[in-house]
Amino acid sequence: MIAEKTLNQTLHIAKSAKKDEFYTQLSDIESELKHYEKHFKNKVVFCNCDDPRNSNFFNYFAYNFEKLGLKKLITTCYINQETDLFFQEENEKAVFLEYTGDKNGNKIPDAEEIGLTPLKGDGDFRSKESIDLLKQADIVVTNPPFSLFREYVDQLVKYEKKFLIIGNINAITYKEIFKLIKENKAWLGINMGRGISGFIVPDRYELYGTETRIDDFGNRIISPNNCLWLTNLETFKRHEDIVLTKKYYGNEFEYPKFDNYEAINVNKTQDIPLDYEGVMGVPITFLHKYNPEQFELIKFRKGNDDKDLSINGKCPYFRILIKNKRIK
Ligand SMILES: C[S@@+](CC[C@H](N)C(=O)[O-])C[C@H]1O[C@@H](n2cnc3c(N)ncnc32)[C@H](O)[C@@H]1O
Repeated sequence: MIAEKTLNQTLHIAKSAKKDEFYTQLSDIESELKHYEKHFKNKVVFCNCDDPRNSNFFNYFAYNFEKLGLKKLITTCYINQETDLFFQEENEKAVFLEYTGDKNGNKIPDAEEIGLTPLKGDGDFRSKESIDLLKQADIVVTNPPFSLFREYVDQLVKYEKKFLIIGNINAITYKEIFKLIKENKAWLGINMGRGISGFIVPDRYELYGTETRIDDFGNRIISPNNCLWLTNLETFKRHEDIVLTKKYYGNEFEYPKFDNYEAINVNKTQDIPLDYEGVMGVPITFLHKYNPEQFELIKFRKGNDDKDLSINGKCPYFRILIKNKRIK
C-alpha cells in the first residue's frame, strides 16, 4: 500500500515536470500566423522547442514554405533525460532538421523524409548547439516551455531576434516581460484567451474539468483559455485606437482613486473614460488592445510606496498604470 502510494507520488512529480507538454494545434497557428505573412519572405525561421515529428509549427512552416517565400526552416527538439525514466518515449534522441523547400514538386513535407540529424546534446534551447542555430535565424516561432518563459524571452532579446511565441497571460505580470512591453520592444499578438482554442496533450494526461475534449482525430485537447501570443513583429492591431465612450467627469464615483498613487481605478478596458487626463489603473488584459500612439504605459502594479496598488486598503487585482496621450 505504502509502496503504491510512493509510486503514485513519484509519478505525480514526474507528471508535473512534464506539464510543459502542451502541443499547439495547427488551427491556432494558422489563425495567428495569417496576420504576419509579409514578415517571412526570404527569412530563416527557427522553431527551437519543436520535434519536427510531432510539431504543428514544423507542419505549418514546411507546408507553407513556398507560399511564405521562406529561405530556410530549422527545428530542434528537446529530450528531457530525467522524466524519460518514467515515460520512455519512442523518440529518445534530440534531433534537428533543416528544410530549404520542396525541390521535387508539390509533396507535403514529411520530417523523416527530409532527414533528421541527431544533436550531440539534449536539444535545450540554451545549449551551444541550439544557440548556434539561433544565430542563423531571423524569426523564432514556437510555443516554448512555460516554466522557462523568462529565460526563453531573455535569450531572444539577447540575440536580437524577431519572435512570435505563445505564453501564459500571467507572463505579462513578470517584470522583465512588462519592461519589454513598456519599452515597445514586444507586444501582444492577435489572439488571446479564448482566441487560442486549446492544446493537444499526451494520452497520459488526465482530462479534467469542462474545458477538455477529444477531437475528431482522437487527440486529447485541453483549453486553458489563459494563453497569449507575444511578439515583436509589427501587427495592424497595435495601431488601432480603443474606442472610448465613457466619461469620468460627472461619473467620478465609478472611478475611485488609489490610496498609494495619484490615479483612478478602471475595472474594464471598455470603461476607460475618454476625458480623463491623469493616470488610470487598468486590468492587465488592456495590453491586448494597447495602441502605443493612444496610451502611454506608466508603471505596473505598484504604488509610490512600492506596495501593490490599493483602494481603501484593499488590493483587488494587478493593475497597469496608463495615461491617455490624446488628452493634452
Ligand atoms: C508547451 S510545449 C510545446 C511544444 C511545441 N513547441 C508545440 O507548440 O507543439 C513545450 C516544449 O518545449 C520542450 N522543452 C522543455 N524544456 C526545453 C528546453 N530546455 N529547451 C528546449 N525545449 C524544451 C518540451 O519538451 C515541449 O515539447
